[in-house]
Amino acid sequence: MNREQSAPLNLLELEERARAALGAMAFDYYAGGANDELTLERNRSAFERLALLPRVLVDVSAVDMGVELLGRRHPLPAVIAPMAFQRLAHDEGELGVVRAAAACGLTMALSTLSTTALEEVSAEASREAPPWFQLYVFRDRGLTSELVARAEASGYEALVLTVDAPRLGNRERDARGRFHLPAGLVAANLAAAAEARSRLDPTEAGSSLADYFERNLDPALTWRDLEWLAGETRLPVLVKGVLAPRDGRLAVEHGAAGVVVSNHGGRQLDTAPATIEALPRVAEAVSRAGDGRAAVLVDGGVRRGTDVLKALASGADAVMIGRPVLWALAAGAGGGGEEGVRHALSLLASEVELAMMLAGAPDTAALSPEMLA
Ligand code: FNR
Ligand code: LAC
Repeated sequence: MNREQSAPLNLLELEERARAALGAMAFDYYAGGANDELTLERNRSAFERLALLPRVLVDVSAVDMGVELLGRRHPLPAVIAPMAFQRLAHDEGELGVVRAAAACGLTMALSTLSTTALEEVSAEASREAPPWFQLYVFRDRGLTSELVARAEASGYEALVLTVDAPRLGNRERDARGRFHLPAGLVAANLAAAAEARSRLDPTEAGSSLADYFERNLDPALTWRDLEWLAGETRLPVLVKGVLAPRDGRLAVEHGAAGVVVSNHGGRQLDTAPATIEALPRVAEAVSRAGDGRAAVLVDGGVRRGTDVLKALASGADAVMIGRPVLWALAAGAGGGGEEGVRHALSLLASEVELAMMLAGAPDTAALSPEMLA
């Protein structure tokens, strides 16, 4: 077996494999960030700069990586981040990801802009780990309410309201490559109700996704709309894209069950802080506003088990795993698809377990700020 065919040893390795496997348009869409990609880079470098201070002579013979989120136990403090258009990576697309998540007992958050309909995805999820639905609010509120009703009816456990994208960030790779969906792929959740809104055909210039956002999504959202949504649905609502502590507080005050500290993987406002830098103060504000009951997740640059420890030690209840899932879907072990994603998730779980043992943390409650040197 040559080096190319051997299974990847870690999540970082997957990106180069995916670059080789994917066409330039799909790779650049997945990999890219806004403007100069400073926030994209900073998400990683901020994790790298943080040091973990291990404790010793703690019995770590049985490490418990589990956490409770929204009243349910998760075997690993990680959820799969919502990411659009997964069939660009592999034919199995979102179904490959949800099957891999089910095999590992993990939760997948499905994007509004998935290339597989939300009902098909939830049908493949494990009963023990129902998926979450990421919501983009359309200018057409009827359409938005319909998406919410469909997510409720098909067993989604929570809504993830993304609030950092009133317009798409300036992704120059996508403008240059004229990003669009190839023939045969559509935004499948919109295909039945609003066929025209499911298409992302090539535009005359630039990214068809940027054009899509501007035409369809509502840039006028305010905290009142969060209240509207929280009143409209029986599902808990997580607000994704919070970086300012006071927005964390406002989210809880307006009915959110928690927040995701996120800069959208550096794809929206370039020069926004790294999420691991923003996390401690947001977590503190959310905890104070929600009496410790509101959930705090963080994403952006989580690649190693040690990153997961740093996130929990900085105040998160769990992380979201983004791009590595796409890389694994495109080119992971066994040629990608479900198997590739399953392998990547198991690599991450092994890394978290080993890091907890070496840090002297028998359970996630032991991951406190004192562990950050
Ligand atoms: C995303 N992200 C995203 N977020 C969201 O709320 N709805 C979406 O549809 C998408 N789509 C999407 C597509 C692609 C290709 C990427 C890379 C990201 C953001 C995602 O949920 C998450 O915040 C980031 O991916 C985290 O950064 P890393 O860890 O992937 O670098
Ligand atoms: C993205 C959108 C779809 O980041 O959230 O590409």
